[in-house]
Amino acid sequence: MKNIFLFIFFSVIISSCKTATQKEKVTGLITTKAMVVSAREEASKIGVDILKKGGNAFDAMAATELALAVAYPYAGNIGGGGFMVYRKNTGEIGALDYREKAPLASSKNMFLDSLGNVVKNKSTLGAMAVGVPGTIAGVFEAHKKFGSLPIAAILTPVIALAKKGVIVTKKQENRIKKYQPYFLKANKKTILFDKNWKQHDTIKYPALAATLERVLKNGRDEFYKGETAKKLVEFMQANGGIITEEDLAKYEAKWRTPITFNYDDLRVISMSPPSSGGICLAQIMNAIEPYDLDKFGHNTTKTIQVITEAERRAYADRSFFLGDPDFVTIPVDTLISKNYTKNRMDNFSFKKPTLSKDVSHGNIKMVESDETTHYSIVDKFGNAVSVTTTLNGAFGSKLYCNELGFFLNNEMDDFSSKPGVPNSYGLIGAAANKIEPEKRMLSSMTPTIVEKNGNLWMVVGTPGGSTIITSVLQTILNVHEFKMGMQEAVNQPRFHHQWLPDVIMMEPNKFDLNTKKELQQLGYTLNEKDSPVIGKVEGILVLPNGKLEGGADPRGDDKAVGF
Ligand code: DON
Repeated sequence: MKNIFLFIFFSVIISSCKTATQKEKVTGLITTKAMVVSAREEASKIGVDILKKGGNAFDAMAATELALAVAYPYAGNIGGGGFMVYRKNTGEIGALDYREKAPLASSKNMFLDSLGNVVKNKSTLGAMAVGVPGTIAGVFEAHKKFGSLPIAAILTPVIALAKKGVIVTKKQENRIKKYQPYFLKANKKTILFDKNWKQHDTIKYPALAATLERVLKNGRDEFYKGETAKKLVEFMQANGGIITEEDLAKYEAKWRTPITFNYDDLRVISMSPPSSGGICLAQIMNAIEPYDLDKFGHNTTKTIQVITEAERRAYADRSFFLGDPDFVTIPVDTLISKNYTKNRMDNFSFKKPTLSKDVSHGNIKMVESDETTHYSIVDKFGNAVSVTTTLNGAFGSKLYCNELGFFLNNEMDDFSSKPGVPNSYGLIGAAANKIEPEKRMLSSMTPTIVEKNGNLWMVVGTPGGSTIITSVLQTILNVHEFKMGMQEAVNQPRFHHQWLPDVIMMEPNKFDLNTKKELQQLGYTLNEKDSPVIGKVEGILVLPNGKLEGGADPRGDDKAVGF
């Protein structure tokens, strides 16, 4: 009898130990050659099929981007825009900006009433909220410069998916239900998504398939100058929008130089303006580099303090200095220099928070002269592509063109409608991000690639508005400082501070109670109410043995596929 008790006692101990270690060792998909991680399995598969057929990461980028427009209408799009950061197997790096632009007829005060107050919903719901879409231009530009397969090979499976339809997941059912009242407000006619769609239903997208078929036949210009352009403009104008045929005809994707900086033995390559992502990430990582986060430990009070204080200062700078580089001069070199950030952290103390009201932008002498989705790709040749693409809000402006089969973005809300008035992400902007015709609105999207000792190490990015930068940061730190694998790093609870409001947002009930108590005693305000989920990270890590580990965020229906 005694033996049985002993046996049970030890079995319980052993199995509880096992659970503890199993919990730590979450491993994502591991493959040897190539991988695509995206928000939907259908899109990851289409991307990987292209890679299997001998296509490269850029062919897979075009296929995954357009497959997400079909399979993930929540954020995947042809009515929005995005950014791509790449690193070829030769080490060559670059970035493509296919961010939306303000229409020619836009103006600084277009979202204000006669008293100068911001008109509620005008920059977020319906036709006025829409920026000139860049996605088709971006896909064709990336493909023209670096693609290796004919565009037909890329578009054909996407069109087939649109015709065959996509199965509704539980999460998608919930999302559609949640936003249906807004669909009714934004659209004059009944749209595809007004139906009571349920999990396991299949939604077919014949109108989108027809649009993509015309794009296949006529190329990029079909969207910007062809029948699709004309129909889109008619639709926008019938709904009170201001986008014209000239706006579409003038749109061009732009090649940009990525932001690069070192952190320990890592070299981080991230998106440059008109995204704030790379600059803010550089500022935050520069500020925390001198501290021994690995010794402080993951998500401990000290680690959260250092990161929060670095974020506070970087976001204060973001709101003052950053905007479209074609319109404003940004002191990039200073902002991302180690010396500048060191000075910015001079008044930081572990004893108490620096209040945001006491932090303004840094003092830089100017020389004259912010629902999205991310996917990460590594091909068998060693090329890497990191892309974040968006309609801005969930289903963008909620305005859906039945005839063309897609939602239009509400990216105009990423401009600063009025200095000091926060946008949907609580971000405050200044003159650098005011609305001007043809200007690109400031973004937080942070598609990122990281090298370690000169070799490709990580491809990472996420949606999440203003929390994008801080989610990318924590994922990199989880692997580099806290020695986690890719999937494990992606799964961890996340927090966020953005200067204003002066609160640390935290995923609810995920952080240690004592840590939270300590932070509050120090004077930090915590908010676990407004952020059930922070980010939805998709990453690929090159393991020491050269294999790839995928990290697909369990917060969504995300999936890593590879071979
Ligand atoms: O460009 C930006 O920063 C925003 N339009 C991104 C929006 C976003 O990530 C929404 N996702 N949760």
